[in-house]
Amino acid sequence: MALRIVPGRGCAHLAATTAQCLHLEAEACSVEQFPDGELRPCVGDLRDDDVYVLQSTGPPVNEHLVELLLFLDACRRAGAGRVTAVAPYFGYARQDRRDRAGEAIGARTTADAISAAGADRLVIVDPHTSMLESMFAIPVETLTAVPTLVSTLAGTVSEGTVVVAPDLGAVKLAERAAARLHAPVAVVRKARISGTSVRTSGLLGDVADRPVLIVDDMISTGVTLEAAVQVLLAHGAAGDMTVAATHALLVGDAAKRLAALPLRRVVVTDTLSQGTDPPPWLEVRSVASVLADAVGRLRRD
Ligand code: R5P
Repeated sequence: MALRIVPGRGCAHLAATTAQCLHLEAEACSVEQFPDGELRPCVGDLRDDDVYVLQSTGPPVNEHLVELLLFLDACRRAGAGRVTAVAPYFGYARQDRRDRAGEAIGARTTADAISAAGADRLVIVDPHTSMLESMFAIPVETLTAVPTLVSTLAGTVSEGTVVVAPDLGAVKLAERAAARLHAPVAVVRKARISGTSVRTSGLLGDVADRPVLIVDDMISTGVTLEAAVQVLLAHGAAGDMTVAATHALLVGDAAKRLAALPLRRVVVTDTLSQGTDPPPWLEVRSVASVLADAVGRLRRD
């Protein structure tokens, strides 16, 4: 089965660089948009091919999700032998449970839709919750950008740094980074009030007079980071603060909010495109080689 990379518009640049790592070119696909907003993706002949559809379902989340579903269906109908959905950033993962009666479980519904559209397997990077895998009946390969982020920072992480998880959900990622840096971990106690506000209630761990490295899966509005920095300063952290996060959604005033914080470096990955005018202080590292390695492994399997 010939290997094919189908690029979605949610991470077209990453799809192209991943294809390059595999000594290929991404497929020349099109996505027409009807005047009413409907999407109409189109792929070439994929008969019996091993197809990887790369699409991050970041902003605009619903449009990119529907584009992924339609691409999966198009690949199936074009005769693909096997179709793997690669969602470097997986939207709706935060809706993995019902916090209140009357809510949907968005992650589960999304998982069902991806399987129904024709995916044989799914590849994701640092999903918001490890619960995500259990929502799929198809096999899920979970990758991490932590080694990429840590190797970017390794030479400049100050002596005595404490790795900080800005909430309980980020503890696993923070622990992974800390293990590579041989550093201790602290955790901010945070509760989310709404999509744009959070409440903190202290810190587990000691950061007094210590540099900190805040590790999170995603930066969306930036309120989590803002709140974490306030808690860390209140607990005596040294001014030397760095942020490493896998997915930079940077919605609304996020860039402004982050620019106002006393951060030495903000390092993220290219799971989401930063458009033509990214903030100058944002350091973006590619996970293309991580994806390409995974594709190579999956093909050998
Ligand atoms: C926790 O819920 C996540 O790990 C992130 O901390 C959070 O989603 C980031 O969102 P925001 O930047 O809007 O606070």
